[in-house]
This record gives sequence, C-alpha cells and structure tokens, in this order.
Amino acid sequence: MISDISGRPDVSEIYLATCVVFSSNQYEVYALRYAECTARTREDSLIFDTTHDAPPTIWTISARETEHRCIAPGGSAILPVPGGPKGNPVRRGRWPSESNSVLFMEHRIGIGVIGMGWMGQVHSRAYRQVPLRFPDASIEPRLVMCADEVPARAEQTGKALGFEQSTTDWRQLVEYPEVQVANIAAPNHLHLDLARAAAANGKHILCKKPVGRGPEETSQIEAAARQAGVLSFVGFNYRWAPLVVYAQQLIRQGKLGDITHYRGRFLSMYGSNPRSRLTWRFDHNLGGYGALCDVMSHVVDMAHHLAGPVKRLVANHHTFIKQRPLPVRGQGTHYSLGSVDDPSGEVTNEDYASALVEFHNGARGTFEVSRTIFGPKCEMAFELNGTQGAVGWNFERLNELDLYLPGEDGLHDGYTTLLAGDKHPYHGNFNPGDGNPIGYEDLRVIEAYEFLQSVVDGEQRQPGLSEALAVANVHPAMIRSWESGRWEDVISLRTA
Ligand SMILES: NC(=O)c1ccc[n+]([C@@H]2O[C@H](COP(=O)([O-])OP(=O)(O)OC[C@H]3O[C@@H](n4cnc5c(N)ncnc54)[C@H](O)[C@@H]3O)[C@@H](O)[C@H]2O)c1
Repeated sequence: MISDISGRPDVSEIYLATCVVFSSNQYEVYALRYAECTARTREDSLIFDTTHDAPPTIWTISARETEHRCIAPGGSAILPVPGGPKGNPVRRGRWPSESNSVLFMEHRIGIGVIGMGWMGQVHSRAYRQVPLRFPDASIEPRLVMCADEVPARAEQTGKALGFEQSTTDWRQLVEYPEVQVANIAAPNHLHLDLARAAAANGKHILCKKPVGRGPEETSQIEAAARQAGVLSFVGFNYRWAPLVVYAQQLIRQGKLGDITHYRGRFLSMYGSNPRSRLTWRFDHNLGGYGALCDVMSHVVDMAHHLAGPVKRLVANHHTFIKQRPLPVRGQGTHYSLGSVDDPSGEVTNEDYASALVEFHNGARGTFEVSRTIFGPKCEMAFELNGTQGAVGWNFERLNELDLYLPGEDGLHDGYTTLLAGDKHPYHGNFNPGDGNPIGYEDLRVIEAYEFLQSVVDGEQRQPGLSEALAVANVHPAMIRSWESGRWEDVISLRTA
C-alpha cells in the first residue's frame, strides 16, 4: 500500500503507472507522480488521472526490442505483458536506482476464507505469498474476512494471518461486498450451503475437494456456480507439483506414446492409529463417504488429468477401525490422537477403497486408497506407462520424477530420476537452480496464483467444479460396484 511505503527513507518518489497494450509486442507505459494525482478515491488504490495538468511521463516501448524491459529514467522496470493485447494491462515494476520510485497497480482481490482449520490457514498463507512468488502477475490478494464457528479460530487465527475482519457467521462473509472470492475450507457437510450462498452473492469460489459429501451434492454445487456465472477452482493441489506439470506436458506431447497402463494410489497414515480421533472425516453425516471422498477424489482427478476419463470399473471397500475417541471441538486436526479413556463413537464410512479401471482410451489400471495403513505416510502416487515410455511420481518425494524414455536406439533402457529445478514449471518462482526442493504449501501458492489469475482474466481455468464433477461421476460407479460386486459404467451427473 502506498501508505506503507510513502514514509520509507529508501523511497523518494512514488509513481502510479498504467501500461496500455496496443499490439502484441508493443505497449505504452504511462506514469504519473503520485503527489501530482488529483483524483483519489482511496489512498491505496490506483487512480490514474490522465486529465491532470501535469502530463504523464510516457514511454513507448517495443517488447521485442527491449526484451520486456521498460527503460526509464534512473533505471529500468520489468513490465511484461503476458498474452499480448489480452494480457493484464497494468503491471508492477520498480525503478531501482536514483529516483527510487515504485509503481503501484491494481488487481486487488478481496478474499474471504470460511473454515480456519488446517486448510483455511494454509490457503490464507498461500494468498499472502502470491505477490511475493508471482510478482509479475500484479495481484494483490486482500485478506478481507475469515469465518469460523470457533471464535478463537476466527479472531486470533484470523488476526495472526492478517485478516482485516473475522466472523463466526459465514453468512456475513458471503454477503460482504468487498469479498470477491469465497475460499471454502470448512468440513464437507457445509460445502453445499456455502457454495450456493457464495454463488448467489456473485463470489468466485475456491472449494476444497471432494466438494460435496457425495456425488449428488457435488453436482448441485457445480450447477449452482455454473448457473450463477461465477468462476470456480478446486483444491486438487497435487496437480501443481512442478514435476507433475512436466509429466503432464510429456504425456500431452506424445513423448510416452499411447497410454496403456495407469496405477494411482493415496495411502495415508492419518487414521492408522485406533486412537486417531473421530473427527468429521470419519462421520458419514459430516464428511460423506470416507476414503472415497477424502483421498480417492485426488487419485481420480490425477488419473483424469494424466490418462483421461474412466469408462468403467469394479470396486472394493472396507472399514478396518470401527470405533474411535471423540474429537475436541475447535482443537487439533484429523491427525490428532485421543486417549484410551476418552468416550468413543462409531466410524460410519470406509477406511479403504480400491478399483480395477478401464479408461475410455483403452488403458487399464488400478486405484487404491487407504487412511489406515502402516508403512506409507502420505503416498499420493501414480505410475503411467505408454507405448514409448513411462513416468512415476510420489508426493512423499515431491521433487523427484521417475522417467523412462529409452529413445529409438534403446540405449537408455531404464528409469532415470529427475530432480525438480527452475527449468520445470513454477519451480523457479520458489527456488533457483536444480535440486533445491519446494514443499507442500508451495503447491498451494501455485494453486492460489492460478485461481486468482483466472479471476483477473475472467476466464475459467482447470481444475474447477466441472473437473470435480467429473471425479464425482466416478464415485457412484464405485458405490454401485461395492453393492453389486460387478463392473459398473461411469455415468455423468451433470444437470442442465
Ligand atoms: N490436500 C487436500 O486437498 C486437502 C487436505 C486437507 C483437507 N482438505 C479439505 O479441506 C476442507 C477442510 O479440511 P481441514 O482438514 O482443514 O478441516 P479442519 O477440521 O482442520 O478445519 C475445518 C474448520 O472449519 C470450521 N468450521 C466448522 N463448522 C463451521 C461453520 N459452520 N462455519 C465456519 N467454520 C466452521 C472448524 O471449526 C475448523 O476450524 C475439507 O473439505 C477437506 O476435505 C483438502
């Protein structure tokens, strides 16, 4: 904010600037001294007053000639214009030397986060990181309001994370005019009401997977957002690992040939201890289906993303641990343990699910998920085999990719391990060079950036609610197969 920087000794001049694109590789930068601006509605918002007597400084630059560098008095500012004329017209830059001026810009997006547990906190931190990790995007997420039914989580956690306001009533948040984006990170049983209210109030929605408690609710949420014309995004975060993005590029480019085999799994330890508390995930009324909603949703999304849609399947499920100690409201996460003396309750959904699957493209494969397994910790993984190569990734080794690309001479006939580096998508936004790893929350920053860029552009990106519905379409086939013991077709639940 301008008020934050105007008193700094290293800043002697503040410019407001706008960049007007007039061809795919040429644009003009207009800059005006902030002190000379006559019209300001808010101290910290961009007002560019072209009618002011003092003529704005104008640089006409060619992107080709200047390599996206605007040569300005006293230094240079990097002013990229991604996407040419359709691109974001106002960029943030900095004149670093004598004039010490700073350009200020717009794309302030008001964020509201509902549910300030593990994920709400992770997403809040991620929004704060977007301007730092993606400075060229000129996006300033503004943490306007958070909501949690537990007052301490709303107030104290919200304040610590930098929210301007907090509430224990999520309705206030979805109705608040300065909230443009509703980030739904509450337990699953609330998602339908939250998403409907957010859509009805014109808020763009980031919804956590599995979206609804079951396929029907996911279908209703998708329809509500589509009919309201709001943008959506779904937290299928594993898509954003740089080496998963790279693997997907190799597959799309045909480097692995035709896909013949796919194995996806998510083997988690979070419920393997019988003392793991009976949080909402283990309760069908609150979480919906168990391992199917919680972890199979990621596995199916990744399979769709890499190998394409599933045609039919035969599935299995089981609940290994049937009683658990009751949770303590507003404390801990689903990893928290109770004691043997605590009162306990019944687990009402499945710990384990698996399926043999056939894809529309003819590939065959398996999906397997568990929340009560010993050995793997958070093994969200896949192996994909094509007619010319293969690729494998495991979240436990987020920064490694197993790649099998023997080439025509067959001299490299074996797997190699790639280490993520700044040559892979997004990695350089976090660390330079090769082998400097990124972590879990960095995937959330990439996700937040992609979602907010979609809001800036006004264009739906993936994965949105449409992709979540595609995942939810697979679940009824699994549930039917649990009952019938037979192969079942995947049928779309999309409503008009
Ligand atoms: N990798 C992933 O994609 C991933 C990981 C974890 C969780 N999730 C999803 O994120 C969502 C939240 O999971 P979590 O692990 O953060 O849960 P959590 O239990 O840690 O947090 C949920 C929060 O919602 C609050 N809440 C409950 N009722 C509320 C209400 N009426 N109004 C406002 N707040 C309310 C709770 O007090 C709590 O703070 C779920 O949908 C879950 O499936 C996704």
